[in-house]
Amino acid sequence: MSAIQVQGLRPLSGKIEIQGSKNAVLPMMAAALLAKSTTVLHRVPAIADVDSMTGILESLGCVCSFSDGSMTIDATAVSGTRIPECYVGKMRSSVMVLGPLLARLGEAATSFPGGCVLGKRPIDLHLYALQELGASIQEAGGMILAEAKKLSGANLVLRFASVGATENAVLAAVTAEGITVLEHAAREPEIVELCAFLSAMGAKISGAGTETIRIEGVQRLHACEWTLGADRICAGTYLAATLAAGGDIAVCGADPRSLKAPLLLMEAMGARIRADEREREIRLTMRGRPKGFSAATGPYPAFPTDLQSVFLAAACTADGESRITETVFEARFAAARILRDFGAQIWLSGQTAVIRGSYPLKPAIVRAPDLRGGAALLAAALAADGVSMIDGAGHIERGYEDICRDLRTLGAEVFTIHS
Ligand code: EPZ
Repeated sequence: MSAIQVQGLRPLSGKIEIQGSKNAVLPMMAAALLAKSTTVLHRVPAIADVDSMTGILESLGCVCSFSDGSMTIDATAVSGTRIPECYVGKMRSSVMVLGPLLARLGEAATSFPGGCVLGKRPIDLHLYALQELGASIQEAGGMILAEAKKLSGANLVLRFASVGATENAVLAAVTAEGITVLEHAAREPEIVELCAFLSAMGAKISGAGTETIRIEGVQRLHACEWTLGADRICAGTYLAATLAAGGDIAVCGADPRSLKAPLLLMEAMGARIRADEREREIRLTMRGRPKGFSAATGPYPAFPTDLQSVFLAAACTADGESRITETVFEARFAAARILRDFGAQIWLSGQTAVIRGSYPLKPAIVRAPDLRGGAALLAAALAADGVSMIDGAGHIERGYEDICRDLRTLGAEVFTIHS
């Protein structure tokens, strides 16, 4: 796996266009299974998770092509019903294919997606929704077999506003017979985009973005052409990295309204934010060190768990003490332990991290624990007095198209070292 070398203490400046959204494109690629023709997606990020989802679709019989940000998915001849284990282990969100496969072919099989550094990550809510919609689910030897002669509308209530379970339920319900009402649904912008995409395919959905989504099943969906929105977590990552590194940057393409909670937090930390909703541009100026802060992650529209690690890194450079509580995943502090190698003073107590900031940080040689944790280590290295190395860059490549290219555009001295 390649490594990333960082020369610290270079303030960031400049403007970058943000890549298409990873967490929007993955369920939309799964949704392409619902149409017996060719779906076209534009502004698709060239990331490892898209490669994995492409491999799954091709294993099921789709013909995919991807060049220069545009992807075509010909799902005319889908016949496979089993998700290859090699992908399930790599990418948890492969489970998102269960719903559309059941809807299309009446059958779907997968191995249990394992836990990961974030925690156990069960899929009980996904299976609950599919069963309520009429699927029979058998579990044996680490495999799940779902079958449904017909899917019928149902009233579903999620005990937690799970993003993936909401997406799977919607993907299964759009061609089910009758009405489905999904309560306590996730409200993330990626859900809104998925539902808009499905509506463009002919689905009848209302309430996306609220906690109650209503779906009126239709006979069939048709393929459509779609341009993805920008990746709000990618935008938030670069903005938060600038809190640590200092500087003056603008990120283009992301809707500032999708980052309301983190932008308010950045202002509380002393950053100057200028957000233009019409132009979809967010400018951040950070002079001096950020102030300490307190924050807790939560389902949208709360502070997003996917920005928790990079805000931890910013807290390590703060002038003062910070507290971050993680409420979505039970084990998302892997990066916190590694940030200590940069000289950060971090104490963990249950789901809360307490950080006493210092500046500059010390350079370090570390290994990325996961996707967002890796980005956080990069942000810390930007504030370290010397050259740092972050091994395991493959984790970062799962979700960031080319984080070194983007940070270099912003003036950082960051390079990928291929081993
Ligand atoms: C999606 O994961 C995102 N991934 C994650 O982003 C994100 O962190 C997460 O939502 C929360 O916003 C994609 O969209 C591809 P959840 P997902 O179901 O759907 C528990 C990244 O870095 N849960 O909302 O897996 C679960 O254990 C990734 O881009 C159950 O208990 O998240 C977790 O504690 C990381 N049973 C909590 O809910 C279930 O059946 C949130 O999970 C499902 C989930």
